[in-house]
Amino acid sequence: MFQLSLSRKIINKDKVGMIDKAFPSLGIESFADLGGVWRVEGAYTFHALDKHGVKNAALVDLHLTPTVVDRAKSHPQLRLINGNFGSQAIADEVGEVDAVFLFDVLLHQVGPDWGTILKMYAKNVRHLLIYNQQWTGSDKTVRLLDLGEKEYFRNVPHSRRVEEYKNLFEKLDQKHPEFDGPWRDFPGIWQWGITDADLESKVAELGFKLVSKKECGKTGMLPNFRDRAFIFSRQ
Ligand SMILES: C[S@@+](CC[C@H](N)C(=O)[O-])C[C@H]1O[C@@H](n2cnc3c(N)ncnc32)[C@H](O)[C@@H]1O
Repeated sequence: MFQLSLSRKIINKDKVGMIDKAFPSLGIESFADLGGVWRVEGAYTFHALDKHGVKNAALVDLHLTPTVVDRAKSHPQLRLINGNFGSQAIADEVGEVDAVFLFDVLLHQVGPDWGTILKMYAKNVRHLLIYNQQWTGSDKTVRLLDLGEKEYFRNVPHSRRVEEYKNLFEKLDQKHPEFDGPWRDFPGIWQWGITDADLESKVAELGFKLVSKKECGKTGMLPNFRDRAFIFSRQ
């Protein structure tokens, strides 16, 4: 994975490349960037707004930062939506757009799960731009917590010392202090190992065909994940 570091931001060239390929070739004029804030401050949203003729955009995240709020002021066609994009109310607020970006977010979604989220948004969009850490450790998609503590920490890029992951297995059934649910469903931790076959068949079931797929390299040092970029369009 080729990454460019701009001050504190990590901008991924494959995600930018996917936007620059999809917007002109598929005629995308409106989009929603679901979970576009952490560490990148909405960089993919602002890239799309600055480089492509966009009429309507939404950036949704559980945490909007002052930098994002400030930068959004110069983009009147951008709506900032603070909340869980897995809630139907937020999906309704996003409404119909040409495309959604799901960059590094699908593997975190449990309640509702990643497949249900795809279904919720698929009916309102024509294109899905997905960049995800894909599971290569087995033929079947796995819920990472089900691997047990030792295997879980062998397969995620965070140590037990990181705040969210401290004593994780002891607090799985406790209510998360901010999220409306238990720690085991919290989207701030790694949740799923999704296989290509399961992602592609879920999206096909929703009426989309694969337009392009790019192998983007290893996910850090993880033995069982590969970064991949997918563009799907409604049939
Ligand atoms: C791993 S970061 C990815 C950031 C960016 N999309 C990128 O590609 O670098 C995940 C982001 O999605 C947000 N997020 C994850 N699940 C969410 C949900 N269900 N609703 C709203 N935001 C969510 C997190 O707050 C965080 O900003």
